[in-house]
Amino acid sequence: MITEEQASEAVAEILGHYEKEKKNLIPLLQEVQTRLGYLPRKALQEIADFLKMPDVEVWGVATFYNQFRFVPLGKYHTVVCMGTACHLAGGRLILEALERELNIKVGETAEDGNFSLERVACIGCCMLAPVVVTKDRIHPKMTPFKVEEALIPYKQEAEGELEEGKSKSQN
Ligand code: FES
Repeated sequence: MITEEQASEAVAEILGHYEKEKKNLIPLLQEVQTRLGYLPRKALQEIADFLKMPDVEVWGVATFYNQFRFVPLGKYHTVVCMGTACHLAGGRLILEALERELNIKVGETAEDGNFSLERVACIGCCMLAPVVVTKDRIHPKMTPFKVEEALIPYKQEAEGELEEGKSKSQN
């Protein structure tokens, strides 16, 4: 996980490629999010200072667009395709099943940082609809009943790492 200092360095480097013009706000937000995975509050402040815009205005613009995130993605970031083919094949029900199973809402990251959930437009494999992608692995022909099973390997991996971390700290 990136530290606050590393995030500030990354933002400073990005800002160095832009003119201090208000029209650069959206491209700046996009580039910072691409680099950091989300928009930390401090980064928004740094962008506002750079563009000499009120913080509240930058915040208002960032929250207006649902492409922007304000919390880090989970280790097992999960996206549910809601393009036409997947939507018609039950994407909404799968999304709801994932929300229940992970105990988070779409757009959120679980408190332990393991899972985050998002809906996306067509990801280009409609023949496999409905599709869920977790940590770059495609789960084709998903159904609400397969959600629990599909998440087991990730949960086991997360638990395994937790146990490994505990035993290392005891040694
Ligand atoms: S609509 Fe989901 S992959 Fe195309």
